[in-house]
Amino acid sequence: MSFLKNIFKIRNWKKSDIDYNKLPAHIAIIMDGNGRWAKKRALPRSVGHREGAKTLKEITTFCGEIGIKYLTVYAFSTENWKRPKSEVDALMNLLLDYLKNAETHIGGKSVRIQVIGDVSVFDDKIKKEIDRVTKLTSKNTGLILNIALNYGSRAEIVHAAKKIAKEVSEGKLKVDDIDEKVLNDGLYTAMIPDPDLLIRPGGEKRLSNFLLWQSAYTEFWYTDVLWPDFKKEHILDAIFEYQKRNRRFGGI
Ligand code: IPE
Ligand code: IPE
Ligand code: MG
Repeated sequence: MSFLKNIFKIRNWKKSDIDYNKLPAHIAIIMDGNGRWAKKRALPRSVGHREGAKTLKEITTFCGEIGIKYLTVYAFSTENWKRPKSEVDALMNLLLDYLKNAETHIGGKSVRIQVIGDVSVFDDKIKKEIDRVTKLTSKNTGLILNIALNYGSRAEIVHAAKKIAKEVSEGKLKVDDIDEKVLNDGLYTAMIPDPDLLIRPGGEKRLSNFLLWQSAYTEFWYTDVLWPDFKKEHILDAIFEYQKRNRRFGGI
């Protein structure tokens, strides 16, 4: 992996420091800190979001290159609608732009893009692009990029509960047959394994309503680095640390 040479130099690592046979299959990222990145430079918050979108492209490509199978990114939460209309509008424009140009930044055309969250509330223009991009990339066999849009874990669990209740009321499911698998199958992430590693840049140490159910045994990694400053070496820092952890899943 010659493209890693520079990063190993920056970090003073040896090749053997990373075990490519023990990579996290699924990495989740809370892409946080765009606003503060812009504020530090006396720029509008929207500029921070634009820089953050660039980081997403770089990190997606890199994760694909090193062999990560799933990358789930928190792009817009169910609570982010509370922000001023001008910021929400800027985020929606950026999203539209990102989707329209997806072909140019999906890492060697191998990345498959999927969306999790309630997208029914978005503009038709955005819904059309989500449809186009997910169909366009549906046969790609590389990294699966799940973008969380209007995503909230509590809303997701309510959504699953309603689906189950409906099946019970229609006689398709018995109450006694409801188990963790049935609930899991009702989530937006039904087809994706639980995240192994969750990364939060931007300095906050909270989940902010992201993947509550799915992260029961996920390893968390935080950094003060703001998302627009987040680079490949930070992903490797996180993976390096992850590989040193002892995951017991309640066992010994
Ligand atoms: C994350 O950056 C992007 C979204 C939530 C859409 P923020 O906009 O939350 O940036 P900070 O946390 O205010 O710096
Ligand atoms: C979480 O970041 C949501 C996204 C990154 C999309 P927030 O900035 O919304 O989270 P809080 O408000 O700091 O908890
Ligand atoms: Mg934030």
